[in-house]
Amino acid sequence: MSEIYYATSTGPVNIATLKYWGKRDKDLNLPTNSSISVTLDQANLRTLTTASCSSKFDNDQLWINGATYPLDGARSKQVLADLRSLRKEVENENSSLPKIATFPLHIVSENNFPTAAGLASSAAGFAALISAVARLYKLPTDASELSKIARKGSGSACRSLFGGYVAWEMGDLANGEDSKAVQVADKKHWPDMKAAILVVSDMKKDVPSTSGMQLTVHTSDLFQHRIKEVVPKRFIEMKKAIIEKDFPTFAELTMKDSNSFHSVCLDSYPPIFYLNDTSKRIIKLINLLNESAGKIIAAYTFDAGPNAVIYYEEKNEKYVLGLLHQFFSHLGGWESSSFDPKNAVIPESFPL
Ligand code: DP6
Repeated sequence: MSEIYYATSTGPVNIATLKYWGKRDKDLNLPTNSSISVTLDQANLRTLTTASCSSKFDNDQLWINGATYPLDGARSKQVLADLRSLRKEVENENSSLPKIATFPLHIVSENNFPTAAGLASSAAGFAALISAVARLYKLPTDASELSKIARKGSGSACRSLFGGYVAWEMGDLANGEDSKAVQVADKKHWPDMKAAILVVSDMKKDVPSTSGMQLTVHTSDLFQHRIKEVVPKRFIEMKKAIIEKDFPTFAELTMKDSNSFHSVCLDSYPPIFYLNDTSKRIIKLINLLNESAGKIIAAYTFDAGPNAVIYYEEKNEKYVLGLLHQFFSHLGGWESSSFDPKNAVIPESFPL
């Protein structure tokens, strides 16, 4: 009788506050700079994945929200090969375990956020897949070790192996063994931190990140300055701001890094534009809000698309979400709290 083995796990979405943009090795997905992200609340945004394997399955197969995909892309194949080779090691060490490493895998994934929301789902997807297969294969589940496999699936996915505040250390070894995610602080460390996503557009990105970042690496002069001078300093400063729960510094670095990332995109040849006019209006609004508050109480950041993620502290929610609801309520979105727009506080003299 051929049995079916299965295990289930989840993977959260992470949003970088210090952006990964550029690969020094595109096969191993080794980055040109270290990066930092915040993992968003799983109750609202996560991929739920069940991995199963059986000798009676015909081939490796993936389902995402009910649609079937073959698991034959180079990156997926690499991730599964790594997981299978770890399982073989486990089987060799423990002869009583069933020999399942070579069985075809069926991976069934479901996102609890609308796929059309334009959110980066590949990080959550790879993280969930790797956690589920690691559980199925009874692999040692050190998150940093698994992050090295996730990294090969999609760079930013390595950070989704942890909750809270996460750093992806770029490493310097050619084989990538030291290019892994580590936790800077867990979610409980800074419970006041909140995030809101404004869905400016749910269209597919203009230029996919993988090809966009390679264009930047090869054509932008500004890029060398970013990876050599700007990011290494910011990486240290941002980790310190997180550990000290220093919101103004964290927020300023986050906004500056989003600006720097979009500048090297514009400096690529031909240029890459991810922000649109609505994104620029959101940037302006957050700057005006901070100016009128007399201190930085909100930060914007944009990935490879026009959608905004706004970080703020809960104590300032009535101002930050109040203003966003006032001016951008026509946009879809997601908030890590249940804010009632009736509680909005808009300064009378607000300059818009
Ligand atoms: C702008 O991780 O999607 O979101 O490694 O080629 O799969 P690949 O790229 P990906 O790039 C993410 C880029 C970013 C910044 C970030 O998340 O750090």
